[in-house]
Amino acid sequence: MLQYFAPMEGITTHIYRKLHCKYFKGVDYYFTPFISPTMHGNFVPRERKDILPENNKGVPVVPQILTNNIEYFIQTAQELKDYGYASVNLNLGCPSGTVTSKGKGAGALRDLYDLEVFLDGIFARQVLPISIKTRIGYENAEEWEDLLEVFSCYPVQELIVHPRTRQEFYKGEVHQDLFRDTVPKAKMPLGYNGNLVNREQLQWWKEQAGIHSVMLGRGLLRDPALLQEPVSEETYFRFFEELEEAYYEEIGNNALYKLKELWTYAAQRYENVDKVLKKIRKAKNRESYRKAVAEIQMLEKK
Ligand SMILES: Cc1cc2nc3c(=O)[nH]c(=O)nc-3n(C[C@H](O)[C@H](O)[C@H](O)COP(=O)(O)O)c2cc1C
Repeated sequence: MLQYFAPMEGITTHIYRKLHCKYFKGVDYYFTPFISPTMHGNFVPRERKDILPENNKGVPVVPQILTNNIEYFIQTAQELKDYGYASVNLNLGCPSGTVTSKGKGAGALRDLYDLEVFLDGIFARQVLPISIKTRIGYENAEEWEDLLEVFSCYPVQELIVHPRTRQEFYKGEVHQDLFRDTVPKAKMPLGYNGNLVNREQLQWWKEQAGIHSVMLGRGLLRDPALLQEPVSEETYFRFFEELEEAYYEEIGNNALYKLKELWTYAAQRYENVDKVLKKIRKAKNRESYRKAVAEIQMLEKK
């Protein structure tokens, strides 16, 4: 079973991916946060920087595209192929209102006719193998059967399912039963994504037959070593120190925002962390940030 790091916009940047790959093991592929091509081009500068081969050396990466425009998809996939990528992932899961209102991300699941036209177009002129990351419906889970039937008409490299509807965003229970019912029905390799946060759950998934991959997002942000044998505390802190250096070098003082966001996930590994996390969030400069992080090191692990 393959193990993937989920795409997370603004979080799993090339800087994060590279350092995660340097310090931790177990990820077979890192999916990039979505690239959203427009009439102005395939990539904005930030997106291009994120996928440039020189910024991803030695890191196994699958770029993700978010669009409902056939031409944009094909042109972007072609450019990614020219950069040396071996496959692309289509985002049919993003629940954000600004995305879905344009019929993109999970918004593309609302109209099956439009979805088929789009998939017809991108698979007919496929320049790279295409995997899909999807939700199970827009309004409700009953939509899944028809959606799966649509996906089954195409040579989808892999269907990675986050078994929630768009309306459920990222909260609450995942529809695991629905996913398990899908396993014997699916014609393409299936991946599972959603709420995987500990080794017991991972072990359980590994024992299930017919699952090609699992994809982890928040669980890996919380414990970057989740997919391997436990590592020393020192490793976690060296990882964060190097993230700090790399982000300050790349974006100056804005690094603080990135680091604070990362700690909201990573801090969950510690007992009674709320007070210290508040200090991290309130840190106004690098010095106060470092002081607060040093306090985290003193806390008990969960
Ligand atoms: C802050 C944030 C940003 C995300 N960005 C993306 C994205 O760019 N592309 C995508 O397909 N999913 C994105 N996701 C969804 C995750 O990839 C994943 O499907 C979701 O977090 C559920 O998995 P988890 O429970 O393992 O975290 C994002 C989620 C969060 C919380």
